Amino acid sequence: MDHKIGILTGGGDCAGLNSAIKWVTKTALDPRLANSRDIKMEIIGIRDGWKGLVEVDPKDPASLAKWTQNLDELVVRTWDRYGGTMLGTSRTNPFNPKNDQSQKCVENIQELGLTSIVAIGGEDTLSVAHKLYNMGQKVVGIPKTIDRDLNSTDYTLGYDTALNVITEEVDRLRTTAGSHNRLFVVEVMGRHAGWLALEGGQGSGAHVILIPEYDFDVDKVAELLQKRRSAGVRYDIVVVSEGAKPRGKEEVYLSDKTDGFGHKVLGGIGSQLAKELEKLTGFETRHVVLSHIQRGGQPSARDRLMGRYFGIAAVDLILEEDFGRMVAYKNGSITSVPLKQAIDKLFLVDLDFYYDSERYNGRRSSLVPKRKD
Ligand code: F6P
Repeated sequence: MDHKIGILTGGGDCAGLNSAIKWVTKTALDPRLANSRDIKMEIIGIRDGWKGLVEVDPKDPASLAKWTQNLDELVVRTWDRYGGTMLGTSRTNPFNPKNDQSQKCVENIQELGLTSIVAIGGEDTLSVAHKLYNMGQKVVGIPKTIDRDLNSTDYTLGYDTALNVITEEVDRLRTTAGSHNRLFVVEVMGRHAGWLALEGGQGSGAHVILIPEYDFDVDKVAELLQKRRSAGVRYDIVVVSEGAKPRGKEEVYLSDKTDGFGHKVLGGIGSQLAKELEKLTGFETRHVVLSHIQRGGQPSARDRLMGRYFGIAAVDLILEEDFGRMVAYKNGSITSVPLKQAIDKLFLVDLDFYYDSERYNGRRSSLVPKRKD
């Protein structure tokens, strides 16, 4: 049987994407697969996410060269060690109600002769994958997002590398904060989910962690920091998620501009909070926005490995003709779930189990209520 798999990466880039592309390619083109099961596969990389599938003109060789790339073992051999995505990405939404190009996308899939699509992405990219599946396209998903907000998977590509970046950067800030007796407010990404702030904050030993799932009281933050100083410490680190907000206030956005999925870019809470805390505590305060540094750089070993495992599992789904699903990591095993389940709701921090709203930090197990299940 002949397969022609299209593969793309959509949404915000992160570490681990190239490993997933490499292992989809290597698994699909494994000569043992071809010999033992009489299966012939081709892998076509689509550039810039869904944008490539909308923009490509399959009849025009120049357009094909611009928007697609034939992948083989030699091409992808070294990709897993690099960050970002070699195929490029975009936040293009073919189902954007302001300019619906979904039909064009389906026609191009057919004209390119693609028998299935592997979409590597987060909530937005996979919601497009799900809609295309509902239109009869053979799609499988691979989860990626540093926000870790996809439902039904315990891991999303890019998360571990982003946590490592936060830990490393806070370690650097700690030395200068200590030298100068300063308070540092560190703004991290994560959109509406607090995982990156909570686990990045705990990993880096932050003194206060503020997450979107719990609206904070700024006076209380000041009080916690003052108590710390009176106990004799010289400096403080506050990690604040870009989606966190003070009680009674709205989230802070960089601008009112929206992307194809209707999202505005969060950002700015760190500087606001730093100013307020300086006023309330009297401590000399600085703020740092880690921003896209969290998405960049070389992938951690975990992201390379998870990219590999997810890539292999995606090809398994295609061979089993089990479409409309996302590969997932659940309870220590690689598995898969319906795309619909993955995008139905955001996976947010369960406050009862993970967050201490007295200390504004991660919970200690002795204080966690027993699970009912
Ligand atoms: O979803 C990943 C993410 O990095 C979010 O944490 C952040 O809010 C957003 O993307 C930033 O988007 P952009 O790359 O478009 O600035």
